Amino acid sequence: MAHKGITRTNGNGNGNGKGKVPHRSRIYSDLSGLYDHVFTRVFSRRIEYVLRNLGIRPGDRGLEVGIGTGLSLDAYPSHCRVTGIDLSAEMLEHAAKKYDPLRHSHIELRQMDGMNLEYEDATFDFVTAFHVVTVVPDPKRLVDEMTRVCKPDGKLVIINHFSSPRPAVRTVVNLMDPVTRVLGWSTRLSLEEVLDDETLSLEQRYKTSPWSLFTVVEARKAQPSTADI
Ligand SMILES: C[S@@+](CC[C@H](N)C(=O)[O-])C[C@H]1O[C@@H](n2cnc3c(N)ncnc32)[C@H](O)[C@@H]1O
Repeated sequence: MAHKGITRTNGNGNGNGKGKVPHRSRIYSDLSGLYDHVFTRVFSRRIEYVLRNLGIRPGDRGLEVGIGTGLSLDAYPSHCRVTGIDLSAEMLEHAAKKYDPLRHSHIELRQMDGMNLEYEDATFDFVTAFHVVTVVPDPKRLVDEMTRVCKPDGKLVIINHFSSPRPAVRTVVNLMDPVTRVLGWSTRLSLEEVLDDETLSLEQRYKTSPWSLFTVVEARKAQPSTADI
């Protein structure tokens, strides 16, 4: 059922997995009702920590790619404007249920494909993606799209599992890959495969706990060189 809080676009995402874009994460649509029960505790605190420490400035415009059921809604300060997009109509329906016009009027929800963002280049001051990058069929393309719509000197913020630089850890974690693929994500992606170091400079890469499978990545989009101006 459509919810009036969600703007639908004529983009490729139709939420039913039958659109032009392969929705490898169909499981999130099918199990959207269970998502919050399983992941709220695991994901919310980390998302909140990261957003609160991002230094979002008054008037900043942000984009969250793959906002899902809206676990981040309460964490964006009201002095910025944020658009949260997701391919899955079902996930967005759950986000819309959490959406409180009094507390979240600075946020809008739209159904859209993160790999084909319907925004001009250099639109946003910051672009975030939490637990999404390894869920899409082409992670590099997703990060390239995030980079494209980010303003020069703006920030990309990604929380995701990336394969460990330590071979022993990588081997053990890769054993889980067949299991995590059932959940729609892969354990095998390395950060280096998705970050284009000509357009992005890595500012921080950290974990919020030593045991966490997830890495927080903050990267800044390069300013155009004077030769390009
Ligand atoms: C693991 S969930 C993460 C949701 C939310 N960011 C969170 O941390 O709770 C992955 C989300 O990515 C969305 N997704 C998958 N492919 C996408 C795409 N091509 N464009 C936008 N969202 C996508 C799924 O529908 C799902 O909501």
